[in-house]
Amino acid sequence: MKPLIIANWKMNLNLEKSFAMMEYLEKSSYENFMIAISAPYLAYFAKSFYKIKFCAQDVSTVEGYGAYTGEMSADLIKSCKISHSIVGHSERRQLMRDSNMVVQKKADNCIKAGIEPIICVGENLEFRRDGNYKEFIFQQINESIPRSADSFIVAYEPVWSIGTGIVPTTEELSEMFYLIKHHPKLIRVAKNIQLVYGGSVNSSNCKHLLSIENIDGLLVGSASLSKKELDLILS
Ligand code: 13P
Repeated sequence: MKPLIIANWKMNLNLEKSFAMMEYLEKSSYENFMIAISAPYLAYFAKSFYKIKFCAQDVSTVEGYGAYTGEMSADLIKSCKISHSIVGHSERRQLMRDSNMVVQKKADNCIKAGIEPIICVGENLEFRRDGNYKEFIFQQINESIPRSADSFIVAYEPVWSIGTGIVPTTEELSEMFYLIKHHPKLIRVAKNIQLVYGGSVNSSNCKHLLSIENIDGLLVGSASLSKKELDLILS
């Protein structure tokens, strides 16, 4: 099976540009690939491009439906025929102050609604430099993963690597991939866990990253906005 590639478009590309990119990507029908697009496009794109798998970028801590102006529940996303959602991306942890507890609630809501969460974890440069990164990641995992689930995806995205062009060394990644894949709580909670890496992934480093043991795929940010880069990463 091909490695899992998840493109995270974040808050980029207006409707016209996104639509044109989808028309292009649908012709290629890549295997084991999904795109996390902006919320307003989810239902529209899921109906228009049935060969492409779409993913949400976040869900609400609120369950179901009701008087919650501006919120977007996992149930609502599921009703748009969306199968996956990112939760706990470092940009939301930083900008919106999403705590581990909030991320866990979002992940639980996804599981209840039938959506597979992609739970992001990653240390900042301070924790990496202090040498406390393992403890930090273990705590994020312990406190952010759903209470019970058949399967989910963990995305290891060191904050110092996102959008910086800096990719951890092979040794640094091997260590983290091994530790995450063998984390006792992850093994206990779910039967099937996939691990993806994100942070400055591009067409020049993707093959190498995928050759490291214990990795199942990649979460690609800015490089996934370019047709050329995406084609090369997916080929
Ligand atoms: P970049 O690939 O732009 O570093 O972004 C990574 C990311 O945040 C994916 O979720």
